[in-house]
This record gives sequence, C-alpha cells and structure tokens, in this order.
Amino acid sequence: MIEVEHVSKAYGGRKVVDDISFRVKKGEILGFLGPNGAGKTTTMRILTCYMPATEGTARIAGHDVFEESLEVRRRIGYLPENPPLYPEMTVDSYLNFVARIKGVRSNARKARVGDAIEKCNLGDVRRRIIGRLSKGYKQRVGLAQAIVGNPEVLILDEPTIGLDPRQIHEVRSLIKGLGEAHTVILSTHILPEVSMTCSRVVIINNGKVVAQDTPEGLAHQMKGAERISLTVEAPAAAVREKILAIDGVLDVHAEEKGEVSTCSVECRLGSDLRRILARQIVDEGWGLLELRAVSMSLEDVFINLITQE
Ligand SMILES: Nc1ncnc2c1ncn2[C@@H]1O[C@H](COP(=O)(O)OP(=O)(O)OP(=O)(O)O)[C@@H](O)[C@H]1O
Ligand SMILES: [Mg+2]
Repeated sequence: MIEVEHVSKAYGGRKVVDDISFRVKKGEILGFLGPNGAGKTTTMRILTCYMPATEGTARIAGHDVFEESLEVRRRIGYLPENPPLYPEMTVDSYLNFVARIKGVRSNARKARVGDAIEKCNLGDVRRRIIGRLSKGYKQRVGLAQAIVGNPEVLILDEPTIGLDPRQIHEVRSLIKGLGEAHTVILSTHILPEVSMTCSRVVIINNGKVVAQDTPEGLAHQMKGAERISLTVEAPAAAVREKILAIDGVLDVHAEEKGEVSTCSVECRLGSDLRRILARQIVDEGWGLLELRAVSMSLEDVFINLITQE
C-alpha cells in the first residue's frame, strides 16, 4: 500500500533523510521510531505530498506522491506535527468542513463526523470553539480530522503527544482498531507505544534506516549479548571479580546495598551460563537470592542501535 524507494531529502546540501526504503502492506500499522531530528516528520511530509523528495520515489496505493499528488491526497488522512486547525471554528463545523473537502458526500457527512467525534472522545466539546480548547483536546481534533474522510492510509505524526495517560491509552486502542481497515504509519519516540500498537517498526537515526522488523523480532535479533540478572549475598567487588573470570562472560555491573549485591552479567550470545553462575556462587559459599535471564527490551535495542551509529 505504501512503497518508499531510496528517498532522500537535503536542505542546503545537508541530507536529513538519506536513502530511506520501506514498504507497508495493507492493514499494517508501521511504527516510525527515531530520536529528535531523525527525519520522521520530513519523511511523512514527503509521503503526504507536503513537499517533494530530493531523490527517490514514494507511492501510495500505486500512485506516485510527486506525479499524482491529487490521487494520493484523496487516499490519506494526515495528522501533522502541528495540526492545521481553524481556531475560530467549532469542533463540529470544522470537522464538517474537513469532511466536505475530503469529498464525503453530504448525506454521509453527519455520520462520518459523528463517528470521528465518538472515536476521538470529543462529544463533550463538539460545540466549543477550537481556539479555546486545551492542548490535548486540540490534538484529538487533529486526529479526528485525519480520520473523518475514512481514508485508506493514515499518516500520524506523534499522535499521542500532549495527551493525558487515559487518553493515550484510548488513542492507542483507537489506532489499533483503525489498523484493521486502514494502513497506518505513526511516528513516535516513545518505545512502549511501538510495542503496544505496531505490527512492524522502522527505526531511523540521522536520516537513515538502522533497523526494520516486528517489535519482537527486533528484541530477538539483537546481536549483542544475553544478560543474566543476579542477586547475591556478598560484596559487589568480590562477586564481580569471580564472575568476570568465567568463560563467556563479557561484562559485569555490580551494585552493593547492605549485605546484598545485584549484578547484571552480560554473556556471549547463545552461552546459557545460568548453571555455571549458580554453581560458582554456591561454591564460594555466598547466598544466591535471585538468578534470571533478562531478554533485551525494545528500549535496549533502540539505544544500542542509535549509539552504534
Ligand atoms: N525546512 C527545513 N530547513 C532546514 N532543515 C530542516 C527543515 N526541516 C527540518 N530540518 C532538519 O531536518 C532534520 C530532521 O527533522 P525532522 O523534523 O524530520 O525530525 P523528526 O524525526 O521529526 O524529529 P522530532 O522527533 O523532533 O519531531 C532536523 O535536523 C531538522 O533540523
Ligand atoms: Mg517530528
């Protein structure tokens, strides 16, 4: 449904998006993840025909974003970083207006607007002036305008920014629900958001794709190391020294609290050292309070990837 091929964007000779390629299948929710300034918004602006790429091509439902921008615009709902709201309009009249320019026929408009209002929890404020709404409510109106035309593709730039925790939760379930009938790209730098809502993740840093996989796949494919967490009744320095001597151990971080030390042991991949560690600790006569394998979280993967760069 969405095809991005070797897209680059340069500002004054500086490439802020550098040879990005990815595809999104119909019904998929793609998380576009990256730190500030990575190029997320820039890529989304290219996909939504807001500005052209310097190099490369992008197609939405088979239509080139540059050559056939009208066809593309007809098929997408876009929530920009700063939603384009008319502050002097009421929520109701604004959404009606957007539905009209999105080509929703007049007999269907009321139902579509009602649906968007319900999905974004805007019932209480539908007759209020947008300019006087709080930031979170404005964000919800932005989301409502993106979905009101019932587009095939939704491009959401940080959809949960500025929302309260309960609303974040609701918007995430809303997006998950949308994923069934729509194709969605959302950008975020919040990792739990990606694991909770997305079927696939593209991680970008400095304008380049550094990884793409399912959230679970990313956590698994992690090349680095396996980790074992230990809690031992012994001084941290002694524990560290003994464990570092074990073959397969790459590094040990140990912290002491009273009589007890907690350690995080980095092991070579595939070397399950749990038995050896347990034996060593018992042989030393130390009390072993806890020992467990820790799988890398998406957060570890992310930090690892962007710091490698
Ligand atoms: N109009 C512009 N002129 C020059 N540089 C720009 C312009 N717009 C964006 N940039 C630069 O492009 C880079 C990528 O910006 P972009 O807004 O795409 O990042 P982002 O991933 O969306 O970041 P954030 O998480 O902060 O929203 C940044 O270094 C930014 O300064
Ligand atoms: Mg951005």
